[in-house]
Amino acid sequence: MRINIIYDTKYGKGEKISKYLEDQLENENVKIFSVKDTDPDYIRGADLYIFSTPVKKGKATKRMKKFVKNLDIDGVDVNYGLITTHVGGKISTPDELEKMLKKNKLQKKVDTLTFKVEKKKDPLEKGYEKELDKFLKQII
Ligand SMILES: Cc1cc2nc3c(=O)[nH]c(=O)nc-3n(C[C@H](O)[C@H](O)[C@H](O)COP(=O)(O)O)c2cc1C
Repeated sequence: MRINIIYDTKYGKGEKISKYLEDQLENENVKIFSVKDTDPDYIRGADLYIFSTPVKKGKATKRMKKFVKNLDIDGVDVNYGLITTHVGGKISTPDELEKMLKKNKLQKKVDTLTFKVEKKKDPLEKGYEKELDKFLKQII
């Protein structure tokens, strides 16, 4: 299966999550991209997309929203999974971003996984790998 992982990050959690997933998916055809230096055109053709974004002002990052808005998925039965990290409060990220993903004909394959930390620069809490393993089991 061709899997593209796309992340945004400021303090590193999004990258850590994505690299862990990449390691676990060593038997698949996986590519990992930072939204900061990727054009949506380069990520076409995968069977599954995994997105990871921090929550900013209650939403996905502007960069991630712009990226997803410009996605042009041409296949059928293309799936996605979404992971967010945040410090608390109301999270509207999944709703908003998921509407955009749906508009781009991507099908939600698994419940969105959310990691909460105490302070915005804090690392992921202990046991995050287990949560990601569960996420992967549902999606692959
Ligand atoms: C400008 C800014 C705005 C933020 N707004 C929110 C917010 O509205 N709600 C929230 O739960 N966390 C908010 N955060 C915290 C981030 O979601 C948190 O730091 C995130 O886990 C960072 O992920 P990263 O390590 O991948 O950069 C904000 C952080 C920044 C820098």
